[in-house]
Amino acid sequence: MTELVHTRQAVAAQVAAWRAEGLEVGFVPTMGNLHEGHLRLVDRALEMAPRVVVSVFVNPMQFGPGEDYERYPRTLEADLALLEARGAHLLFAPEVAEIYPRPMEETTRVEVPGLSDILCGAFRPGHFVGVATVVAKLLHIVRPDVAVFGRKDYQQLVIIRRMVEDLCIPVRIEGVDTVREPDGLAMSSRNAYLTADERVRAPELHGALAEAAARLRAGEDDFAAVEAAGRARLEAAGMRPDYFAVRRAADLAEPAPGERALVVLAAARLGSARLIDNVVVER
Ligand code: PAJ
Repeated sequence: MTELVHTRQAVAAQVAAWRAEGLEVGFVPTMGNLHEGHLRLVDRALEMAPRVVVSVFVNPMQFGPGEDYERYPRTLEADLALLEARGAHLLFAPEVAEIYPRPMEETTRVEVPGLSDILCGAFRPGHFVGVATVVAKLLHIVRPDVAVFGRKDYQQLVIIRRMVEDLCIPVRIEGVDTVREPDGLAMSSRNAYLTADERVRAPELHGALAEAAARLRAGEDDFAAVEAAGRARLEAAGMRPDYFAVRRAADLAEPAPGERALVVLAAARLGSARLIDNVVVER
C-alpha cells in the first residue's frame, strides 16, 4: 500500500514512526511522470531499505525563464498506481507553497560552485542551484538513510554527492545505471516532447556517445577529436548539440591523456526537446 501525503508534517511523522521501529528509510526524489528509469531507482531503494519514500515535485526553482516548467507532464494518479505496483511505501507530493512558503527570490539557496557552472550549468544558468536547493530541502524533510539517483543525470549526481559532503548531510547517496529504450534512447519524461520523426532520430544521441566511448576504450587520447566527431554526428542527425564533452568521471574535470575513469556527456536540442545522456568509460 502506497500512502499519498502532501505535507512535510505527514512525511516527517511517518518516517519518525518507522525510525522508532528501527526501520531504515530509502528515498527517491523525482519530478513525476514516472517511467521505468524512475522505477528502477525505487527497486534499488527497496533493496537497500525496508521502507521507501518517493517524492513527486516539479521544482520551479530549477527551471529557467522560457523553459518547460508549465508544460512538464503532471500525472500523479498514474504515478501513484506505478509506485503501488512496485511496492513503495509513501508518496510525498507537495504543493509549491509547501516547499517554498516564502517568495522564491527570498529563499535560502544551496550552490555548489564550479560544478554547477559547467556543461548543462553553462546552458541552464541557475538550474543546479535549484536542484541542490530542493534536494537539500527534501533530504531534511524526509531524513532518509539512503537516497537514490540515476546516472542518466550524471552531473546532477556529482553535484548532489558534493553538496551532501560539503553540508555534512547524514545520508548515503546511491547511483543507478541509465535505463534505456530498446533502441538505446535513455528513458526520460521529456521524450514525450518528440514528434514521431524526431523520436526516430533521437537514439543517435546514445549512438554518438557509444561511438566516442568505444574510441576512448581503444586508447584514443585526442579528446578534442572525439568531441568534434560526436558533435558532427549529432548535427548530421538534425540535432543542435549544446555540448559533447569527454570528462574525468569523478569530478567532471578536463581529463589528462591516459586518464582511466572517464565519462562522455552530451546535451542536444531536437525539435522542442532538450535531451541529455552520457556513457561512463573505464579503461
Ligand atoms: P527527474 O527527472 O524526475 O528524475 C528523477 C530521478 O530519476 C533522477 O535521479 C534521475 O537521474 C532518474 N532518472 C531519470 N531517467 C532515468 C533513466 N532513464 N535511467 C535511470 N535513472 C533515471 O532529476 C530530477 O527529476 C530532479 O532534478 C530532482 C532530482 C527530483 C530534483 O528536483
